[in-house]
Amino acid sequence: MINRPNMTASLLDIESLSVERIAGLLRMAQEIRAEPERFQDSRQGRLVVNLFYEPSTRTRVSFEIAARRIGMHVVNVAAGGSSVVKGESLLDTYNTIQAMSPDVIVVRHPDSGVLNRLAVATEPGIHLVNAGDGSRAHPTQALLDALTLKQHFEDLSEITVLVAGDLHHSRVTRSGVALMKKLGVGEIRLASPPGFQAGARVTEGTTRFDCLDDALRDVNAVMMLRIQHERLAGADAPDAEVYHREWGLTSERLALADPDCIVMHPGPMNRGVEIASEVADGPSSVIRQQVRNGVYTRMAVLLELTGP
Ligand code: NCD
Repeated sequence: MINRPNMTASLLDIESLSVERIAGLLRMAQEIRAEPERFQDSRQGRLVVNLFYEPSTRTRVSFEIAARRIGMHVVNVAAGGSSVVKGESLLDTYNTIQAMSPDVIVVRHPDSGVLNRLAVATEPGIHLVNAGDGSRAHPTQALLDALTLKQHFEDLSEITVLVAGDLHHSRVTRSGVALMKKLGVGEIRLASPPGFQAGARVTEGTTRFDCLDDALRDVNAVMMLRIQHERLAGADAPDAEVYHREWGLTSERLALADPDCIVMHPGPMNRGVEIASEVADGPSSVIRQQVRNGVYTRMAVLLELTGP
């Protein structure tokens, strides 16, 4: 077996990260942003495998770009084009990939909690990164969102952040709120229509609203989330137009927030549903900055796992 230094094992969720580890990752992401050339090719020849069982644009591409920027090789496995379609189990697929000795395996999967099962099966020297499991966790999204907040606000304890939309089915909500709590964000507001509310563990310590207008008053940052149609499990999706009228972030609604309020969205956006184009493309939007931060954050994660 190839001998590799034994480092911090995996990145599974925000809950299992210490505040120190989070601070280190965010600091490293900032350093990378300031001086990207310092980190170029610093992991030359190492190997990342992206194993994705769900569609992805931003997350998969940014893991790939992040890995390439630090000199790693990247192999992408999309479940649809693999032996998964011949009936191979997730664990058999995972172990097959492990047998080829990658340094890091990045996994996205529709089942909540699957990453914990894979973590148990992970061999020493291989690092597992969660790129989103069901509605449970999406730690690198939470980290890139925290980085974005920190770039706009010096003291997170003084700000109010609103997360609005389909919170119930959203792993972005769970990981994002967990991280904002760990970072001591002043007030976390959650707003969602009936049936889309977050669970008790998420809502604990937050302020809940069932009306977007009320929730928006004086907030410093708002993160809009799309309806997770793929997780509705047969339940009727709300009519897009009706939803937009009640729950869509328009310029008119945004005027209720603090004048310097930033607008975030993890993507993919459903324009005209949870967010109006005028807001998505407007001066308050930091949505592309989030995407850029995704690369820095994932570079930091890969560097940390495969370091020093
Ligand atoms: C999110 C995801 O996949 O959880 N997207 C992303 O990673 N940027 C949000 C979503 O799909 O709605």
